[in-house]
Amino acid sequence: MSQAAWSWWVAAALAVAVLASLPYWLPGVVVGLRVRIFALVNGDEGIPVPGKVVGTDDFKRVYADPAADGRSRGAALSDLFWYWLAPGPEVHQEHLEPGPRYDDVARTTRRTIARLRKDDWEELVARCAAREFDRLDGAAGVSDRARVVRLRDAMMPLWASVYYEVVFDEPCPPQARDLIVANANDVVSALKCTRLRHMRRRDRLTRYLRGRIADGAVPHGLPATLSEQEQAYYLQGTYFNTAVVQMSEGMAHLLLAIAARPELQRRLRENQDPALLDRVIDETLRVYPLFGVAHRITTAQIALGETAIPAGSVLLFNYAEYHHAGGPDAAEFDPDRWLREHLAQVNNIPFGISANRPCPARGIAPLTMRVAAAEVLRRYALSTSAGHTRSLPNRGPCLLTPLAADRPDDEPRRPAARLALLRVRDRWEDVWRSLVQLVLGTYMVWDARRLRLCRNYFAAQEAEQ
Ligand code: HEM
Repeated sequence: MSQAAWSWWVAAALAVAVLASLPYWLPGVVVGLRVRIFALVNGDEGIPVPGKVVGTDDFKRVYADPAADGRSRGAALSDLFWYWLAPGPEVHQEHLEPGPRYDDVARTTRRTIARLRKDDWEELVARCAAREFDRLDGAAGVSDRARVVRLRDAMMPLWASVYYEVVFDEPCPPQARDLIVANANDVVSALKCTRLRHMRRRDRLTRYLRGRIADGAVPHGLPATLSEQEQAYYLQGTYFNTAVVQMSEGMAHLLLAIAARPELQRRLRENQDPALLDRVIDETLRVYPLFGVAHRITTAQIALGETAIPAGSVLLFNYAEYHHAGGPDAAEFDPDRWLREHLAQVNNIPFGISANRPCPARGIAPLTMRVAAAEVLRRYALSTSAGHTRSLPNRGPCLLTPLAADRPDDEPRRPAARLALLRVRDRWEDVWRSLVQLVLGTYMVWDARRLRLCRNYFAAQEAEQ
């Protein structure tokens, strides 16, 4: 073989090797690059917790400090969160500054959730799950063959129906469900940088909610300190964005974790240990916390040993790092750890810190996840070979095999060939997706800086005073 032909073969072999290995290194490199670009565009304003200034041992104390109570004003990062949560981020409960408006909004949310008793929640979720999963099966055609679903997408109509009924006290009509799903999907896809935000899609839901409010269709009260438009934003932000997104993501993590562990799934289906599902839910929310980073702006100095965190600092509480810093096996998925270790001994704050604006749904979220998961396990065998990360940009690809109605205890065989195919497809999608996230994420960070939604809002308020 000539020298030229030999060089050509070596170059071609190298190119093939690089191409074939892309799924194993490119997504990681691109994520690193994205973090660097975000820091460059966003500035280096935050104090990571846990980190050099505040260690793991002080995480909860600093989070619970009364001075860690600023939510939006004074952090450039807030522009980005407001951008993603728009429209109406200024009345989103998570981002309202402490004060009478916040108290009014938080009281309304607490009251709305507490209106239903435990049994009511269970009945509501079981009923909506049966209806939505029947519809899912109907759309796929009746078959006992495995089909691939994205778990996050599959769960959204269920939680849209549940929270519609919580707000309006009547069953969710299909067109409202579709508006809610389109809104929630748009928000979460933008947050994960897999798609740009589509404000028209979100505005359609705002208009619908505004109309329902004008018709007096919200029987259980709305925050009285808000205008009608703001009340529509409140409903959209709390129930049809946060609740639907968080519950769908939480369920996708839970079902994906179960799908990847056939032995665990068998134990759950046999149900000899009724508390096992609760432990699996706790472990899922610990290993894959839904919040990446929650930020707070300090409104006074916080003492910290010899030093102090000055007022006006932006604290970035990193949930996953905190959860995974609790011992050598803390990052491992082991539901039975909850038999050995007590809740209080594990670094685990899936719903935030009770002293500093915890999640108002912390009581009902695990309860309702349990009901929905039990219905899924009753209907389907789950299996997956897809990657499972905290941010879940792949939306949880999973094979669902309907369990034969007359033989629910017969476990279908794991479809090995389809799982192999799913793994290859997921790895390659990861390559493309990481590049999309890099480009769209960079654009959205830049666009949010340009629009300055949060800073302009507070500047206008100051100008008015
Ligand atoms: C598994 C499901 C859920 C998880 C893991 C979760 C987690 C959290 C966490 C960690 C926080 C505190 C963040 C911080 O400190 O800034 C929070 C706040 C919040 N969550 Fe949830 N959440 C879930 C479901 C829900 C649902 C179903 C709703 C609505 C019904 C909801 C509404 C809110 C609101 C309004 C806040 C802001 C609280 C405030 O600032 O007063 N969440 N959530």
